[in-house]
Amino acid sequence: WGAEGHKAVGQIAQNILQPDVESQVAKLFQDKSFGGKLAPASLWADTIKKQKGSPFAFWSAPLHFIDTRDNPGKSCSVDEERDCPDGVCVVGAIANYTTQLDCENGFDRDTRDIALRFLTHFFGDITQPLHVCGRSKGGNDVPVTFDGRKTNLHAIWDTQIVRKRLQDFDNSLDKYIAFLTSEIQNGTYVSEKDEWVACDTPSRRRRRDTSTILKRAKATTRCPLSWATDTNEINCPFVWESIDENPNLDLGQGYYKAAIPFVDKQLAKGGYRLGTFLNSILTKKC
Ligand code: ADE
Ligand code: ZN
Ligand code: ZN
Repeated sequence: WGAEGHKAVGQIAQNILQPDVESQVAKLFQDKSFGGKLAPASLWADTIKKQKGSPFAFWSAPLHFIDTRDNPGKSCSVDEERDCPDGVCVVGAIANYTTQLDCENGFDRDTRDIALRFLTHFFGDITQPLHVCGRSKGGNDVPVTFDGRKTNLHAIWDTQIVRKRLQDFDNSLDKYIAFLTSEIQNGTYVSEKDEWVACDTPSRRRRRDTSTILKRAKATTRCPLSWATDTNEINCPFVWESIDENPNLDLGQGYYKAAIPFVDKQLAKGGYRLGTFLNSILTKKC
């Protein structure tokens, strides 16, 4: 996502944090960075990615996505062995930074601070369909037109669709975030939000039962993998469909309208998962 999407995920999470977790978060961001808040912190991973020559920029870039070797338009899937064998992808990153943030594992303050910055960002990226898609560099290499402007498929999902959506909220990101938060708390998403955080992947669960306790102690990809699979499912029926059928369509009208419910829900999922996750991991007394 672009800045608006990431801020939305961060602020939705912030809205549902328990008070003691909120103060833990503020304490983890050192020197009062980001005003102690998740929304501004969520932009940090993109800021460092863009700093040319910084060591962070070099190694962190591939952590923002998982390039699935499926065939969107025909069949969609995420396969950990196939798509992220070395753990260098958004699924592996969420697993590893979760391990580093958890106070049970004894990592120092600096490490936990950085882990929280990355997690706040990656919980967003893992809900963007084209960050869970290997085709044409996640759509970066697919030229499209949006409201008369030439851009690419990835960029309209990161930024243009979200920005256009803000027009429904007086161009106020705060109002959009308030709307999504209320949809989670007492609106459309009330009945399904539990599923968003359940992270069930039955095939892996079965595999895990026969594996060792030792494996369990290592960074587990169970949740991020199930979230990636959930996100990837949007690629087949929707994201790529019109592109394949009518490559010259302006995506600012019908495609945009049809994308709204997906974008709303994906941002809500990212925020709800991040808030729920922090409430569970940062209330531990270590
Ligand atoms: N670069 C290569 N694949 C990508 C993806 N799926 N998302 C963002 N950047 C990428
Ligand atoms: Zn992107
Ligand atoms: Zn990113």
